[in-house]
Amino acid sequence: MKPHRITIIALALLVVGFYALRATQASVAKQPPKNVTFSKDVAPIFFKNCAECHRPGEAAPFSTLSYKDARPWAKSIREHVVNRTMPPWHADPHFGQFKNERRLSQADIDTIVAWVEGGALEGDPKDLPPAPSFVEGWNIGQPDVVFTLPKPYTVEASGPDEYQYFNVPTNFTEDKYVRAIEARPGNRKVVHHVIVFIQPPAPADAPKLSQEELTRRRTQQAKESIRYSDGFLRRTKADAPVHNDGCSLPNGGGGTKFDTSKRDSGSTLLTEWAPGRNPDVMEPGVAKKIPAGSILTFQVHYNKAAGSVQTDQSSVGLIFAKEPPARLVTTESVHNSYMQIPPGAERHRVNACWTAQRDIRLITLMPHMHFRGAAMQIEAVYPDGRKAMLLNVPRYDFAWQTGYMLKQPLTLPKGTTLFVTGWFDNSARNKFNPDPTKAVRWGDPTYDEMLLCFVDFTTDAKPSVAMSSGQ
Ligand code: HEC
Repeated sequence: MKPHRITIIALALLVVGFYALRATQASVAKQPPKNVTFSKDVAPIFFKNCAECHRPGEAAPFSTLSYKDARPWAKSIREHVVNRTMPPWHADPHFGQFKNERRLSQADIDTIVAWVEGGALEGDPKDLPPAPSFVEGWNIGQPDVVFTLPKPYTVEASGPDEYQYFNVPTNFTEDKYVRAIEARPGNRKVVHHVIVFIQPPAPADAPKLSQEELTRRRTQQAKESIRYSDGFLRRTKADAPVHNDGCSLPNGGGGTKFDTSKRDSGSTLLTEWAPGRNPDVMEPGVAKKIPAGSILTFQVHYNKAAGSVQTDQSSVGLIFAKEPPARLVTTESVHNSYMQIPPGAERHRVNACWTAQRDIRLITLMPHMHFRGAAMQIEAVYPDGRKAMLLNVPRYDFAWQTGYMLKQPLTLPKGTTLFVTGWFDNSARNKFNPDPTKAVRWGDPTYDEMLLCFVDFTTDAKPSVAMSSGQ
């Protein structure tokens, strides 16, 4: 045999061997793992990734805590995990890392599929991992204090959405620092969202205004504002100036006055709740401040989809920090009040900007739009001009109000600008669109729109020390 013949044969054998190996590997991979059972294989995945919502008393339609409760849903479960519609998670995995990421690994999906295809067997209950422990009603654990609407609020069977405001005094006699916060809807059938604001008491040296002066100021404010009240709802006036590029305005889009050079002062948000929103649980040494004597104002958005008269008594639970925190949390709302989406527009772009006035550490980003919201991106532009994509939500889903909690806090030096860009689908193609023939402006009701991102960040609790240490 000539030497090159041998080489060719050896090569051929190698190739055949390689494919044979590939083939066995493929057939191994294709064969569903044997005896996949709920108790041994699936329960650990469900307990970790689903039970947060799929347990008695929570938002989801069935419990994944027991075989008996989960088994009837097996087919639907397979479909939802394969499509990745469950667990709900909408961030593009290429950008940012999030500690509340709700994405199943491909291996977990394969296990669930194999379980369903193998007949969704129970297996030996002795194999069950310990059930996750939840405090009844609270995901943060037992709160130190709970504030609840003073009395049940009645929501009629039909009619327009309502934004209702309720004041609940804290009666705190000293400044309090909270390290965990959870707002709870009293009645999920009608509560669309809950936002709790902190209203600190007026400073002792604030001038006391007469009733006439107060009325005069309110009238003046209403005239200057680009918003108006429509029943219980605040909406941007139809003839207010239009600026879809909020970033081109000195206030970044975040104003309610015709004077676009001024931003609305940073709001003092305590927390928000909407489906899919995790409660706020801060890292050690981090807390939110509630000044002594503050009132908590609940903004509750009610809709009347239940079709019957309902009552609601929403609440917020707080856990106090054991010691004064090193860093304080602020929630900023980066939004564009001047937006307008033309009728029928398929991919209308709106943006808003906000610039850090001191060194901050970013912890959570929560995009918010309504039924026409299609996608959102949040980018940082650093003082040196460097750009970074922090969060990309390529298919926004209004049903899920996810706060994306950064795995590691991200330091943004003073002068860093956050660019929030949203895309809206106001065409008839969008099956959620309430009316594709309307030009849509900013407004509270879901038939209006919002381009908004809640941004949670921390700053040094003692800024004078921070100056020298550079935070
Ligand atoms: C953040 C909360 C949350 C998490 C986490 C979550 N779900 Fe859901 N799930 C819901 C809610 C709420 C619904 C009902 C509304 C809907 O269908 O969009 C739902 C619906 C479903 C449905 C459809 C039920 C039907 O009506 O057909 C399935 C199946 C499902 N979830 C499976 C899962 C599985 C499996 C996991 C974990 C791997 C999971 N979910 C994780 C909240 C959640």
